[in-house]
Amino acid sequence: MPYTPAMPRTASRLARVIALMNQKGGVGKTTTSVNLAAAIAGAGRKTLIIDLDPQAHATLHLGLDASAPGASVYDVLTDPAADPKLALVEARDNLWAMPSETDLAAAESELSGVTGRFERLRSALARLREDPSAPDFEFVLMDCPPSLGLLTLSGLAAAREVIIPMQAHFLALQGVGKLLETVGMVRQRLNQNLSVGGIILCMHDAQTTHTREVVDDLEGFFDAARDQDVPWRFARVYQPPVRRNIKLAECPSFGQTIFDYAPWAPGALDYQKLGEALVREWDTMNEARDESPSLSDAEIRVLSGSMGVDARRAERSA
Ligand SMILES: Nc1ncnc2c1ncn2[C@@H]1O[C@H](COP(=O)(O)OP(=O)(O)OP(=O)(O)O)[C@@H](O)[C@H]1O
Ligand SMILES: [Mg+2]
Repeated sequence: MPYTPAMPRTASRLARVIALMNQKGGVGKTTTSVNLAAAIAGAGRKTLIIDLDPQAHATLHLGLDASAPGASVYDVLTDPAADPKLALVEARDNLWAMPSETDLAAAESELSGVTGRFERLRSALARLREDPSAPDFEFVLMDCPPSLGLLTLSGLAAAREVIIPMQAHFLALQGVGKLLETVGMVRQRLNQNLSVGGIILCMHDAQTTHTREVVDDLEGFFDAARDQDVPWRFARVYQPPVRRNIKLAECPSFGQTIFDYAPWAPGALDYQKLGEALVREWDTMNEARDESPSLSDAEIRVLSGSMGVDARRAERSA
């Protein structure tokens, strides 16, 4: 049964700003950013997707023109005086995009050596939040490129949370370890509030023993970090995994999300469930925050019961 909103949003609410990040290419970052953003918008929550990749795949996936005149992420990063609202494009009901353009590749060298360059996106988002004429976004999803330069670091500096799209293959744990170290470094130097929400398994083949072993390893790795002071202390493997589904690979070339292109396909169902899970988790965290405003996200995750083996078992069998 579809999840219905627990409570109306008020202007004082925080936004859940998520960087979808993995230095490895082709793991499902863009597919997840676009379709998850569309699922969350479909659940009635105002959502912004920021395309931080000069390849502009998320922009194109939404059917937007990356070469159209008008402001983009490039302007927001290179001109701190630019109004970030001018870089917003309304893409669907409840869904806005801050598009990419090929010039974005030049931002890295143009800004090299500029003080505060990593924080520009974060301040642009803060300005949007303060602007009463800008949409009051509840979710912001950032599609990062497969590299660890200025663009990804800008995303990580602006985020409150990192979600890692990946495949459950046998080198997964090794890759995740390196990625988490990077997040730890960013938390120390750029963004002390950054935490790892968890992993979304993409192009998933649940049938193989090997896949199940990798998922168990990942969950074991996160469970072992519960009492350590690391940004992935309360991370999880989100349910459900996104099954391999050809419709998900087809829809970008039509400039459509999976919900536009094949709303009945397994890919649509998986992203819808994931979207509902993220919305539900956020509502629960907000309820806990209302009761105890001084709690950190990590403490709230524990109190709201969204963590731990029992919660995950219940989720899997739901
Ligand atoms: N669940 C899925 N089933 C089938 N194909 C998928 C699925 N998820 C992603 N793909 C396809 O896999 C390819 C890589 O996915 P995607 O572009 O989302 O990865 P990415 O991590 O954003 O890549 P890059 O690192 O280049 O930005 C794309 O062709 C996409 O359509
Ligand atoms: Mg991509």
